[in-house]
Amino acid sequence: MDLSFFTDKLTAGLVGLRYGEQPESLYEPIRYIMRLGGKRIRPVLTLLGAHLFTEELDAVVKPALATEVFHNFTLLHDDLMDQAPLRRGQPTVHEKWNPNVAILSGDVMLVRAYELLLDVPAPLLAPVLRRFSQTAAEVCEGQQWDMDFETQSDVSIAQYLDMIRLKTAVLLGFALELGALLGGASEADADHLRQFGVGIGLAFQLRDDLLDVYGDAATFGKRVGGDILSDKKTYLLLTAQAQAGPAQRAVLARHIGQPVADEEAKVAAVRAVYDELNIRPQTEALINDYFLDALQHLERLAAPETRKKPLHQLALQLLEREQ
Ligand code: IPE
Ligand code: IPE
Ligand code: MG
Ligand code: MG
Ligand code: MG
Repeated sequence: MDLSFFTDKLTAGLVGLRYGEQPESLYEPIRYIMRLGGKRIRPVLTLLGAHLFTEELDAVVKPALATEVFHNFTLLHDDLMDQAPLRRGQPTVHEKWNPNVAILSGDVMLVRAYELLLDVPAPLLAPVLRRFSQTAAEVCEGQQWDMDFETQSDVSIAQYLDMIRLKTAVLLGFALELGALLGGASEADADHLRQFGVGIGLAFQLRDDLLDVYGDAATFGKRVGGDILSDKKTYLLLTAQAQAGPAQRAVLARHIGQPVADEEAKVAAVRAVYDELNIRPQTEALINDYFLDALQHLERLAAPETRKKPLHQLALQLLEREQ
C-alpha cells in the first residue's frame, strides 16, 4: 500500500482536531504550529506499525495523533530552550508571540496529547498510558542532558548517544510500539517494533544534527548553524574534537564555549574543521550502521513482508531526508 494512503488518513484526522477556543492567545499558537505541517512521521509510524497486524486503522488515527501533538509540544519548548528563530520555514512560536505563550500553549498540548490517548480500548489504556508517560519523561531527561551538555566540555560520544536516544529515539520507538499494541501484536513483536523505532530514531537525530550544519535553510526550515552557535555537543563536534590536530584543536577551542563576536564566522570556522576531518561521511556511516541494526528488528517480527515494505521505505527516506 502507498504511503499516501496513511498520510491522507492522518491529515483527515488532524483537520478534525479541536484544541480549544478561548483565550485565543493560548490556542491560536497551537493551530499555528500544527498548520505548519512537518513530516508527521510519528503518527505515520503508528499507523504503519498497526497495519503490520490489522486492517482496522480508523481507531488508530486518534491515538496516533497523540504522538504528533506531543511532538509539537516538545518543539514549542525546544525552540524556546534552543533560542531558535525558525521552524518549518516560519517564525517559532516564542518569536511570533513570546516565551510565555510557547510555555503555556505547549503545556496544554501535552494535556491534549493525553486526551487523544483516551480513545485507546479499555484493556490497553493503562499499559499505553504507562508506556507513554515513561517515554514523555525520557524525552524531558534527554532534553535536559542536551542543555546541560552545552556548557560541559567533557561529554563522551556514549553520553551523546544516550542523550539522543532519550530526547528523540524513544518517541519514535513508542509511536511504533503503540501501533503494534493497537494492531494486536504479541509482546515480542511490539518490542521488536519499538527497537526498530529506537534504532531509526538514533539515525534520524544524527541526520538532523548533520542537516543543522550542512542543510539548506530553505528546505530544512530551521536556522542552519544553530547547533554550532549554541555549542551543542553533537556527534559531529565530539568526533571533530577527538580527531583534531593541534591547529584544528586551537580553532575549536577559540570558538566553542566562548563568547560569540561574529556568528557567521563561528559557524564557518567550525564547519571548515568538520570538512577537513571528513566528519560528514563519518556521520553518514554511523547513520547507516544504525539503520542496518534497526532493520534486523523489523526482519525478525512476524508480519507479512509486503506490510513491512512501507516501513522499510519510510525509514530509508528519513535517513536521506533534506527536510
Ligand atoms: C524535529 O523533528 C525534532 C527532532 C527530533 C529532530 P521532525 O524532523 O520530525 O520535525 P517535523 O515535525 O517534521 O517538523
Ligand atoms: C530535538 O532536538 C529534540 C526535541 C524536540 C525533544 P533538536 O533541538 O535538535 O531539534 P530541532 O533541530 O530543533 O528540530
Ligand atoms: Mg532545537
Ligand atoms: Mg534542542
Ligand atoms: Mg536539531
